[in-house]
Amino acid sequence: MKDSHRSVVRRSITPENAGRPLSPPLATSVMYHYESLSQMQSLHEQEITGFTYARDGHPNAVALADKISWMEGANIGIMTASGMSAITAAFLSVLRKGDSIAAASQLYGRSLKLVGGELPRLGFETRYFHASNPDTFAAAITPETRIVIAEVVSNPMVRVTHFEALADAAKKAGALLLVDNTFTTPNGFNPLAHGADLVMHSVTKMLSGHSDLNLGYIGGNDQELMTQIDDLIATMGFNASPYNCWLAERGLNTFDLRYRQSQENAEKLVGLLENHPMVSKVHYPGLEGHADHALAKTLLHNGFGAMVSFVLRGGRTQADIFLKAAENIPYGPTLGDVATIVIMPAFSSHRKLPREERQALGIEDNLIRVSLGIEDFELINKDFTKALDAVHMAISGPK
Ligand SMILES: Cc1ncc(COP(=O)(O)O)c(C=O)c1O
Repeated sequence: MKDSHRSVVRRSITPENAGRPLSPPLATSVMYHYESLSQMQSLHEQEITGFTYARDGHPNAVALADKISWMEGANIGIMTASGMSAITAAFLSVLRKGDSIAAASQLYGRSLKLVGGELPRLGFETRYFHASNPDTFAAAITPETRIVIAEVVSNPMVRVTHFEALADAAKKAGALLLVDNTFTTPNGFNPLAHGADLVMHSVTKMLSGHSDLNLGYIGGNDQELMTQIDDLIATMGFNASPYNCWLAERGLNTFDLRYRQSQENAEKLVGLLENHPMVSKVHYPGLEGHADHALAKTLLHNGFGAMVSFVLRGGRTQADIFLKAAENIPYGPTLGDVATIVIMPAFSSHRKLPREERQALGIEDNLIRVSLGIEDFELINKDFTKALDAVHMAISGPK
């Protein structure tokens, strides 16, 4: 007879298992049950470790953060819901009334919106510097500066930060240096080993690699600072979902292979673009003619990355012809995917900036940014050649 004291609603005990699962289990539980009050008390007093409520932490976030921290050389790492929530958490946890912010003039579009719109709205002033020109640091980084933000290689102009001078300027002013290492990845550079206080990633991009999740990571070595950030993340609800962490950990397994193949494709694409009459300029730090090539050689320990930007001859009409003809290369507002993706920053990531500000950053309307994927280069070659030739035909008739 059916036991009337049971209910399917009551949780069942996870079956005993002396073996440990080889691939990481997905832990979706929001709450964790403890046997007694004294066990709970031991947990709160940190005599034992464990999870209580998923917004405060869960196994999938800890496992993933631990791996990224290892790659970055960070003692402590925290996962967040997105790259933007990692950046926002860093700012909100350290800024106090009267503080100001120093920001590189070239940052991801939403980061610029944060430091140029949202944080000034709350009363914080932002001053800008040109990250590859140390002469601009002193005016922006002052004793009032609480936090400095820069990317190692900027989006989308792939300019390289004068890192040593920036870390020095931040230290002298008593400010924290937060570095967005999304573009460069831990394979290219480790900011914490070069004087940064905090490193962050949009894990959405190359670390996870499949454009199927949003996640952020923030890491550092100062226990007190990281506890402050951790607390803010739990309070504001910037926490990462277990499923996204689980999926990203799976993606991370192949990161190193993807990084190498994408970078090799980038180098080959640069060769193609440099020799095509429909391309007026190629931006890639590996090129001798790139403004920051010497700096890139000293900073980047593993090649020059998988991101290439170029200026197409003509204007918007020609850009449309290019994008239509490059039918196998998706136009999408992301990067670091397994497949090659193009965007036009003036119409996506940087569209919220006034045109004059975009142009001052070098972002012309016909700038195309390419995030190289891991396809066989022959496919990329075919698609780009076809698309550039289509522009050529439209401008000057058959070659
Ligand atoms: C360099 C860089 N930083 C931060 C972000 C924000 O990350 P997310 O989209 O995960 O919030 C992006 C997103 O494109 C980015 O390219």
